[in-house]
Formats: sequence, C-alpha cells, structure tokens
Amino acid sequence: MSIKFPDSFLWGAATCAFQIEGAWDEDGKGESIWDRFNHKPYAILNGGTADITCNHYHHMPQDVALMKELSLQTYRFSISWPRVLPQGRGALNPQGLDFYDRLVDALLAADIVPNATLYHWDLPQSLQDLGGWPNRDATDWFAEYAQIVFNRLGDRVPLWSTFNEPWVAAALGYGQGVFAPGIADASQQYQTAHHLLLAHGKALQIFRQGNYSGKIGIVLNTARHIPASEREEDQAACQRVNDDELNFFTEAIYRGAYPQDFIEWISPHAPKIGADDMSIIHQPIDFLGVNYYMTFKVSYAAQGGLLKQSARQIAVGDWNHSSNGFGFNPDGLTELLLHFKEKYNNPVLYVTENGVSLDETPDENGVIDDPLRIEYIQAHINAIAKAIQAGADVRGYYAWSLMDNFEWASGYMPRFGLIHVDYASGKRTPKQSAGWYREHIAGCTQGGKHD
Ligand code: GCO
Repeated sequence: MSIKFPDSFLWGAATCAFQIEGAWDEDGKGESIWDRFNHKPYAILNGGTADITCNHYHHMPQDVALMKELSLQTYRFSISWPRVLPQGRGALNPQGLDFYDRLVDALLAADIVPNATLYHWDLPQSLQDLGGWPNRDATDWFAEYAQIVFNRLGDRVPLWSTFNEPWVAAALGYGQGVFAPGIADASQQYQTAHHLLLAHGKALQIFRQGNYSGKIGIVLNTARHIPASEREEDQAACQRVNDDELNFFTEAIYRGAYPQDFIEWISPHAPKIGADDMSIIHQPIDFLGVNYYMTFKVSYAAQGGLLKQSARQIAVGDWNHSSNGFGFNPDGLTELLLHFKEKYNNPVLYVTENGVSLDETPDENGVIDDPLRIEYIQAHINAIAKAIQAGADVRGYYAWSLMDNFEWASGYMPRFGLIHVDYASGKRTPKQSAGWYREHIAGCTQGGKHD
C-alpha cells in the first residue's frame, strides 16, 4: 500500500522526566511520589530505581544531538513538577526551570519541535503528604505549577499536554496500588480521576488567559477494547471497561458529562463533583494525544473486581515477540483513530506513544539489530495512514521511546528505545531501527511514499 503523509505531519519520539532524567535529588529537586515508591523494597522488578536511569539531566545536550542525528522533527518530553517546585508549591527551584529552559532552547536550535507534558505521574511527595490528588486542593496546586511553567516556556513551546494518561495515574496509583503512591482504594481512584480532569481544565484556563501561541491538549492511554462475544454480559463488561479507561475522560472533555450508567455502576466510589467542575473540564482542547499499544477482548467475569470484567490481549497472528507481554494489533490503532473522528467531530489527533519492548543486546560489534521493532513501527505507521485516508486528522507520530528507560514497576527489563542505553556506563547506541526511522522521515519529508 503506497501511503503519502501530509507534508506537515510531524515525526518524533517521546520520553518522560522520571523515566530518563535521574538526578533524583540533585540541584534542588524535591522528592516525587515515584522517588518514594521506587525506593520501597519489592515495588520495582529486580529492585531497580530511577535515581540515575539514563542520567539525561546531565546528558541532555548529547541526547538532543542524537535526536538531530535521527532527523527527529519533534520531541515529546515531560517536566518534573518537583524539579521546578521542590515542595510542589511555594518556593521555586531556579535550577529546575533553567534545565527545561536549556532543553527547549537546544531543541529549537536543532529545529526540533518541543512537545511538553506538564504531568507524567511524578507528583511532589510533599503534596501527597497533604492527601495528594484525592485532595481537591491539588487542582489549585497544579494550576500554580502550570502558571509558572507557562510563564517561563510558553513563548517557545508550541505543543503542550496537561496530563499523560490520567487513567493510569488514578487507577494504578490510587485504585490498584501497583504504581505510585501505592494506594488501593476505588473511591480515591475516581476522585483522583475527576481532580486530574479538573486540574486539566484549570490549566487550560490559565493557558488561554496567557494568549500563548502554542496548542494545548491532553494525552490518554487508549487501548482498544472489544467484546469477547455477542453475549449481552460480555458487551456490557466491555462497555464498562471503555467507560472506565476512555469515555470517563473523553466524554467529560468533549461533552462535559461522565457516562451516567458508569457513574451509577461505580456509585459508592463515584467522585464528588463541584458545581462548575464539568464546565471547567469541558473547555475546547486543540488536540488529543493517543497512546496506543494494545487491543483487548473483554468478557464478563463475576470475580473481575468492581467492573466484573476480564480483558485478554489479542495480538495479530503469532506476533508475541515483545519482552513485556505487550501485543501487536495495528488495526486497533486505525479503529481507535476513526472512533475519535466519528464520535468527537474529527478532532486533531497526535499518536503520542507507540512502540515495543524487545529482548535485545548489542552484538560483538556493538550493533543492535531490531527488525521486529522496525516491523512493529512500520505496521502502526501504516495503520495511521489508513485512518488518515479515511479522514482522521492525525498530525504526528511519537515513537515510544527515544531511548531505553526506567519502565515503572517493570524497572529496566523492558527496552523500548530506538537508542540502546548501557545503564552502567550511560553509553547510548542507536539501534538499527533508529537508522530505519531516520530514512523513513527523510522519505516523508521529500514527499516520498511508504509501502
Ligand atoms: C505509558 C507511559 C509510558 C510507558 C510506555 C510503555 O503509556 O504507560 O506513558 O511512560 O513507559 O507506555 O509502557
């Protein structure tokens, strides 16, 4: 299939502050809930911590040079709230803001479009000590943080996201306890989900008031969920999962209301909602960030927790090569992009994360041949092209990830990077997929076609 992407389509890669920066307690940075969580015994596979990880905080110029070498047109990163405000509010850490200032200027000098996410899960621990996201005050603390960052970087950063994957932050962090801050309480989960959206709305208001030239949106985790059968109980279970992970967020943002059946289903744990909250949440966004990795079939399960569901990942054919159990289902991405097109009046979309973790090590010459990652990325690029040809307004693709990094509770076992990182030495080695991606971008920018 010959595919022509719009000339304006942006090709990039993504990372996240906590996963790559290291320097967890340097230059004035405060503790985050993930610093606290990953220092707990048994919280992280093989006892890894992100104290150093890729040490990007000290390698940033070289990493931007590598992005330039890959011919990236855009780079999605997140800003560490506790690096900017060590206590989460009040006293600023000038060295923290200076770091992001230098990063943005280095990207612009390299002709790489900065795409900044304000929150990728690293809440300052001092705010968690005050109740964290279940505390409604957190929405104002976040607004204060957003104002400070916009004041400093708003004149140069053209693409902003308020949050990365609010469902993950709420469900895994406060509902299941497997992510920071390690709380397992359904009421805290849904109050957090609501407060993350309210904080998103408050940050939007501040951004609009600042008349910045950039665009702002939110990034959601968007696995594709389909019913395991035509049976009513499976259809209903799948609806509950879609409501929980997706519609709760997209319906609030695009229509100003939560799915009522779902709110009734979770009722004892439903969030408390203030009088103006939904109108604050329901402000126009400039784009929706779509993080896609997997498709699941959902069945009813009497023992399936609050949602009484069981989800089974479905990969195409026998493609089960990922090292961390993530699947391979490019059609799911096409279906999701067209779902947003049809349901929300053809919004602007970016695929803000997509990639695969593989078991790979450098050969005797230090070369990392990763044809399976090339196959994975090409297939998902083709899936995006199909959606664009069907009318979806997709404007960019960010490979997850620029470099191998700390994969949350899975530690360093998964390797998602286009660039290999030797964590002991900090050595970066572009994998074969990096060279392939550079050629792909070159082909697109010369108006080339892709099969
Ligand atoms: C996510 C996060 C990333 C992950 C990536 C691989 O989507 O979970 O945004 O931080 O590292 O998705 O799991």
